[in-house]
Amino acid sequence: MKDISLHLMDIVQNSISAGADKIILRIWVEPKQDTYQENSAKISYNLCCEIIDNGRGMEPEFAKKAADPFKTTRKTRNIGMGLPLLKLSAEMAGGELILESELNKGTRIKAFFDVDSIDRIPLGDVASTVKMLVMANPDITWNIWFSSSGEEFELDTDEIKKELEDIPLNNNAVLDWIEKTVNDGIRKVFGGVLDEVR
Ligand SMILES: Nc1ncnc2c1ncn2[C@@H]1O[C@H](COP(=O)(O)OP(=O)(O)OP(=O)(O)O)[C@@H](O)[C@H]1O
Ligand SMILES: [Mg+2]
Repeated sequence: MKDISLHLMDIVQNSISAGADKIILRIWVEPKQDTYQENSAKISYNLCCEIIDNGRGMEPEFAKKAADPFKTTRKTRNIGMGLPLLKLSAEMAGGELILESELNKGTRIKAFFDVDSIDRIPLGDVASTVKMLVMANPDITWNIWFSSSGEEFELDTDEIKKELEDIPLNNNAVLDWIEKTVNDGIRKVFGGVLDEVR
């Protein structure tokens, strides 16, 4: 896939299919563990994304293989490509995909990318992705969180709903406000860290 926002859009569909009514999207930049030393001349960073849901989760054996369809015998299901493609994007950019799932509790998918890898895909239009997700799924509680050194942003649709009282979350003006607010958040948090918020 061309960018991270397209992966997010796709991976979140799994959470929706799993019946989640709360979905947390987190994007942050953190120093790589192995380069984080006090005297290190240059610290490298990972760009991390995480999707956490409270959906039906996966059986442990299934979860182990969900991101590696070609390693399974594939007798009990069709091969999905959403998780394997995200894993591929992460690994091509010096990162990894980590999947944790608990049956009847939920699922956490974390993907990270070396910020400076020439093969790292760009962030893409995360704000428009969030807008579309809220528009299509106003009954899901969406929590969006961004962070980088010293900067943080959070948007929670339950908080917005409280303020709105009778106005629905998928009202056009509200959706446009959400998109703008998320865009401002991205610029504030990642503006100085990712080149041109790439
Ligand atoms: N958040 C989740 N909660 C519960 N099950 C999940 C979740 N994400 C993935 N799965 C399970 O893992 C399978 C593989 O997911 P993946 O996104 O790779 O493929 P898919 O959704 O089946 O097909 P595609 O995404 O290619 O349309 C899903 O079919 C589903 O059974
Ligand atoms: Mg999928």
